[in-house]
Amino acid sequence: MQSNVRPETMARINTVALAEAFIEEQIREVRAQVGDKKVLLALSGGVDSSVVAALLIKAIGKQLVCVHVNHGLMRKGESEQVIEIFQNQMDANLVYVDATDRFLNLLAGVSDPEQKRKIIGAEFINVFADEARKLDGVAFLAQGTIYPDILESIKQAEGKKAVKSHHNVGGLPEDLKFDGLVEPIKLLYKDEVRVVGEALGLSHEMVYRQPFPGPGLGVRCLGAITRDRLQALREADAIVREEFANSGLAGKVWQYFAVVPDIKSVGVKDDSRYEGWPAIIRAVNTVDAMTATIEEIPYAVLHKITARITAEVDGINRVLLDLTPKPVGTIEWE
Ligand code: XMP
Repeated sequence: MQSNVRPETMARINTVALAEAFIEEQIREVRAQVGDKKVLLALSGGVDSSVVAALLIKAIGKQLVCVHVNHGLMRKGESEQVIEIFQNQMDANLVYVDATDRFLNLLAGVSDPEQKRKIIGAEFINVFADEARKLDGVAFLAQGTIYPDILESIKQAEGKKAVKSHHNVGGLPEDLKFDGLVEPIKLLYKDEVRVVGEALGLSHEMVYRQPFPGPGLGVRCLGAITRDRLQALREADAIVREEFANSGLAGKVWQYFAVVPDIKSVGVKDDSRYEGWPAIIRAVNTVDAMTATIEEIPYAVLHKITARITAEVDGINRVLLDLTPKPVGTIEWE
């Protein structure tokens, strides 16, 4: 098994040729490790799990079982894209689980941000474990661990406290035993993961997509989540992403999204009183997500986003802009 320490002699993977050599080496290693056994992967559709999926499909084909859990907090079109790419285009063994009701029922009435994060993280493991128990003969668990994750867990083991409880697929229940973990990209930095992803045939859009937190729209639908406000957030977020793409900002800004708080203000629409929530736009740049600066979005883009959200999204009657750098605001609102 590969060690968790990146050798100092390991070359930075920054060319297609180096990525292809890495892929060939990992294919050999994975085949040697798993033989003819089945491997399970939680495929969120994020960059890391997508790259691991593409690599393992190449290495072991249908021996890989991908489970995509839709927690109901995905962005617009995201689960559909996972199905289209991995099931339809790459012919992967994909189990799609729509667990929206499970998550939203548990989250109903819960307004504390840390409690929301804990519920989402724990229920994700429950749903994933339920699916794993239904499958026969799965011997290995694959994970999209990357080198910064390993460095982060070393820091945490040394007692440094995190500001928020991040969620991942750690801590599966005792009864789920695996012969081992398959972590083919665990020694790679993010930029290398992207180069490898493109060499595996994943689209540029997919491997360079902005980070999206594990708890998804759950930490952007502030306070107690309701289905109607979540739907408004999903539509507003899709408009922000579309207009960032249309104006060429998408490839340039690190993270950009909408947040919808649980407050209403009075507005007017079609000559009638129209109470609605505000959508808050946040766009930040950062290198390591520890600090962040604000992107200066051109007013023309902001006007377009405002016009579209207030016209197209049910329940939203104002658009606001968050100008707070990190610190003092974290990137996400919860
Ligand atoms: P904050 O809000 O702490 O976010 O400034 C820093 C970066 O981390 C992302 N983030 C998460 N990523 N699981 C993740 O994988 C999580 O639970 C999580 N929470 C925040 C956030 O989007 C930003 O990029």
